[in-house]
Amino acid sequence: MLLKSKEDYYPIYFGDLPKLTLDKKILIVTNPKIAGLHLQALLEKLQAREVYCHTIADGEIYKDFKSVESILEAAFNHRLDRKSLMIAFGGGVIGDMVGFASGIFMRGIDFIQIPTTLLAQVDSSVGGKTGINNSFGKNLIGLFHQPKAVFINPHFLRTLPQREFRAGLAEIVKMAVCFDKTLFQALQNLDIGDENALLSVIERAVSIKAQVVREDEKEQGIRAALNYGHTFGHSIELESGYGKYLHGEAVGIGMVMANTLALALNLITQKEFEAIKTLLEKFRIPTSYMIKNVESFYESFFLDKKSLDARIKFILPQSIGGVCFKDDIPKALVIDILREFS
Ligand code: NAD
Ligand code: GLY
Repeated sequence: MLLKSKEDYYPIYFGDLPKLTLDKKILIVTNPKIAGLHLQALLEKLQAREVYCHTIADGEIYKDFKSVESILEAAFNHRLDRKSLMIAFGGGVIGDMVGFASGIFMRGIDFIQIPTTLLAQVDSSVGGKTGINNSFGKNLIGLFHQPKAVFINPHFLRTLPQREFRAGLAEIVKMAVCFDKTLFQALQNLDIGDENALLSVIERAVSIKAQVVREDEKEQGIRAALNYGHTFGHSIELESGYGKYLHGEAVGIGMVMANTLALALNLITQKEFEAIKTLLEKFRIPTSYMIKNVESFYESFFLDKKSLDARIKFILPQSIGGVCFKDDIPKALVIDILREFS
């Protein structure tokens, strides 16, 4: 598969990691857990002038400037230059940070993505959104920096904890609901233990993502649809305290909340509402949440990057396989919907 962004074309490979021969210095960035499980397999495939490895502590709380600084320091210590390459070897946390670090090191060097979580394989490794968190919120600092290539090998998922795996499935459900009814049906029939069936679902999700990014790399329009479930999901993460829910789990509940609003606006039918919920339940993704404070939950929508000029932009499904944006929904209606979850 080839993804064309405005800047560049880059290949997305599926299946076993091919042999990579690169006449340059390489800095692999990963965390100790992934290094312990899979680094040797990567090194065996890699032939380069010099290969260095840098690890960052595992976890979303380390997705910060300090970790990015440590990547940059490793790059300087090993005398990487403008022709060198970074490899992001891990989940979305590593991918977003390495994308950012490579984008600012000497004003930008190449990097490739080798995602090892389902979420990273179907979503974060493709599309060039990179960045870190700070005290004001998640992913608020960063840049668009497209990788030179992405290698998606489902074998890495064999060691992924079930909970992480299921959180990744939520992002595939998201793509299916917004863009592809056939993928939705494939998910309804999916046996997650069948690696071939899983790979074809991953390929389809990535091809949707690539198409969306091709059309709208910098999120001026349709790319915002990839945030379906996220407006509510981010508020759940904020209210419940970061770490209680995995990102994909919060997005799963967020999709149900968005669907409740879509149902009230007659954008989806009761039957479609139930079908999406049943699919999430099939993957054991949480679908219910008790909002503690409806007013402050509503206010937190304004922190969303999509909210512009004090208007909240809701991303709502339109039937299954379609999506629309609404920024004129009366507060009273949204509050009524939120009360259903309190
Ligand atoms: P993660 O990177 O924290 O990985 C989840 C856990 O799985 C970690 O403990 C990690 O060490 C472990 N792990 C990774 N691969 C493994 C493997 N093969 N076997 C065993 N354990 C493994 O989380 P994630 O869900 O991959 O990514 C979440 C991040 O992605 C968030 O920071 C989010 O903001 C970001 N994100 C970015 C985009 C984007 O477009 N850039 C899109 C969605 C999410
Ligand atoms: N995951 C949202 C995006 O890439 O735009």
